Amino acid sequence: MARYQPRDFYYRKARAAGLGSRAAFKIEEILKRWSLAAPGARVVDLGCAPGGWLTMLARAVGPQGRIVGVDLKPCRPAAAQVATLAADLGDPELPARILAVLGGPADLVTSDAAPRLSGIRTRDQAQAAELATSVLRLVRKLLKPGGAAVVKVFMGEGLDQCVAGFRTEFARVELGRTRATRPGSSELFVVAVGFRTASAAGQRPAVV
Ligand SMILES: C[S@@+](CC[C@H](N)C(=O)[O-])C[C@H]1O[C@@H](n2cnc3c(N)ncnc32)[C@H](O)[C@@H]1O
Repeated sequence: MARYQPRDFYYRKARAAGLGSRAAFKIEEILKRWSLAAPGARVVDLGCAPGGWLTMLARAVGPQGRIVGVDLKPCRPAAAQVATLAADLGDPELPARILAVLGGPADLVTSDAAPRLSGIRTRDQAQAAELATSVLRLVRKLLKPGGAAVVKVFMGEGLDQCVAGFRTEFARVELGRTRATRPGSSELFVVAVGFRTASAAGQRPAVV
């Protein structure tokens, strides 16, 4: 197994760029590789603190875009086009709050949310599964038809079921790692494009 290098290339790159962590380079790489977050896009970033992804998303959508970040922890907005909410992703009122601040359904939903690990395997897996359910529920409620999602997941029990959930909703789903992911980490990213169903975000076509 690769040796853990706490101060590797991406750690030093993040420090040099004045970014809080390497996390920003993961979303930067994904946005570039899949051509996501066009200028002017509406984006929701779940599990946004301390704000590395928000910084990269704000650069990608530019001043005409709009981004809403959500985290349990308060997080300072990275730019004028960014708003943040302190909330639990499992809060049933959250979709309506996000849509009100975003001004309409999202072109892209991203999630780097991860539960705080206790070291107790069964508890950690149950928490991760609960979080994954909340994220998929939010993706369904927030995205516009044709929209995209980028969601961090972890190898192990429940992964296949989670990916299957995305496959039923999107035209194309890929699972991959980023170069900035720490060697030995079990994290992967689901990149899903072409959201198929009309969402609960007011996009359901009128019945004719
Ligand atoms: C890896 S960090 C995100 C880093 C962020 N993408 C960045 O670039 O700075 C994971 C975040 O998920 C948040 N999180 C975990 N469970 C959550 C929940 N149920 N509701 C809201 N946020 C949650 C944590 O508070 C934590 O800040």
